[in-house]
Amino acid sequence: MGENSRNTAAGLKVAAEIDVDEITGHRRMRRSRGADWSRRMVRETRLTVDDLIWPIFIIPGTNILEPIDAMPGVNRMTVDKAVEAAKMAADLGIPALATFPNVEMEKRDETGSHILEPDNLINQTTRAIKKAVPNIGIITDVALDPFTSHGHDGILRDGEIVNDETVRQIAAGAVHQADAGADIISPSDMMDGRIGAIRRALDAAGHQSVSIMSYATKFASACYGPYREAIGTSGLLKGDKRTYYLDPSNAMEAIRDAGLDVEEGADMLMVKPGMVYLDICRALKDTYGLPTFAYQVSGEYSMIKAGHAAGYIDGERIMMEKLLAFKRAGCDGILTYFAPEAAKLIAKGLG
Ligand code: PBG
Repeated sequence: MGENSRNTAAGLKVAAEIDVDEITGHRRMRRSRGADWSRRMVRETRLTVDDLIWPIFIIPGTNILEPIDAMPGVNRMTVDKAVEAAKMAADLGIPALATFPNVEMEKRDETGSHILEPDNLINQTTRAIKKAVPNIGIITDVALDPFTSHGHDGILRDGEIVNDETVRQIAAGAVHQADAGADIISPSDMMDGRIGAIRRALDAAGHQSVSIMSYATKFASACYGPYREAIGTSGLLKGDKRTYYLDPSNAMEAIRDAGLDVEEGADMLMVKPGMVYLDICRALKDTYGLPTFAYQVSGEYSMIKAGHAAGYIDGERIMMEKLLAFKRAGCDGILTYFAPEAAKLIAKGLG
C-alpha cells in the first residue's frame, strides 16, 4: 500500500466513526430551523411596509406615464398621475414618497436657478399631493442636478463646482420646497456646510418642524446611471462627481462626514448607494443612533430586474432578501423603487 492510500484509509476510518455530539458539545444550531413556526418565532429582523420609501419621477404635462428604458417597470409621471400614485402608495401603507423632477431642458442653466422658482415641477407636485393625499410624507431632494445644464449637483464656475454659492442656492431652494409643503428636505449634493445652512434657512422661514434627511454618505458610484436617464441628465453630465461625492474606498471619511451632518442638525441619515455600503449603514447606526436609511439606487434596481428578465435569478426573492439586508444592517427604512411591489408582497404575507 502506498502512503497516499494509507492516508486515505485513515481518513475514511475517522470519518466513519465521527461523533458529532463530541464536536458540537450538544449545541445544535439547526434545532430552531426545523419548522416554519420555529423559524418565525426566532426571526430577528422583519421587513414591513413602514420601512419603504418610494422614489418617483415627475414630468411636465398631464395624464402621461412614460416608461424609463433603463428602469423596467418604473415610469416618469405627470403631477396628476403622481397624485394617483400617492393615493395608491398611501393605501398600501407606504409612509413616504421621495420626488424627483425631469424638467424641460430650456429651464436648466449653469446655476440651476430653476430650483428657486416657487412653483417649479417639484413644488407643484408637493402641493398637489399634500392637498389630495394628506396622510403620506413628502421627501424632496434639494440638489441642483435636475436644474443644471451640465447635470452637476452644484454651480459650475471655471470648471469647478463651487461650494458656498451652491450651499446658499440649495438652502433657498429648500425654503421653497418647505413652503410647498415638503415634510422632509433631503440634500443629495455633498457640499460642505449644507445641513447647517438648510436648517438656518428653514428655521428663519418658520419651518422648524420640517426635518432634514441628509444624504450623509453619498459615494461616487457607478450605480446611478439609470437615474440619470430618468431625470434626463445622462446626456448632459460632463466629467464625474468625484470632487464632491465620497470615494468608495473611504469608510472612516464617510463616518466623519456624517458626523458633521449630525452636528449641523441632520434629523436622519442616509447611505447611498445601499447594498454595497451595508458596512456604512451599520457604522452610522451604531455611531450616531439616528434614524438611518439606505437608498437602494437605480442601478441596484435595474440589475435585479435585468437578472430576472434574463432568467438568471428569481427577482422577487432577491428583492425581498436585499431589502431585508438593509434592515439587518441597522437601517430604519429603505428608499426603493420596489416599494409598491414589496408592499404588495408583504400585504400577502410573503414578506
Ligand atoms: C443627485 C442624485 C443622484 C441620485 C438621486 N439624486 C445621483 C446622481 O445623479 O449623481 C441617484 C438616485 C438613483 O440612482 O436611484 N442629486
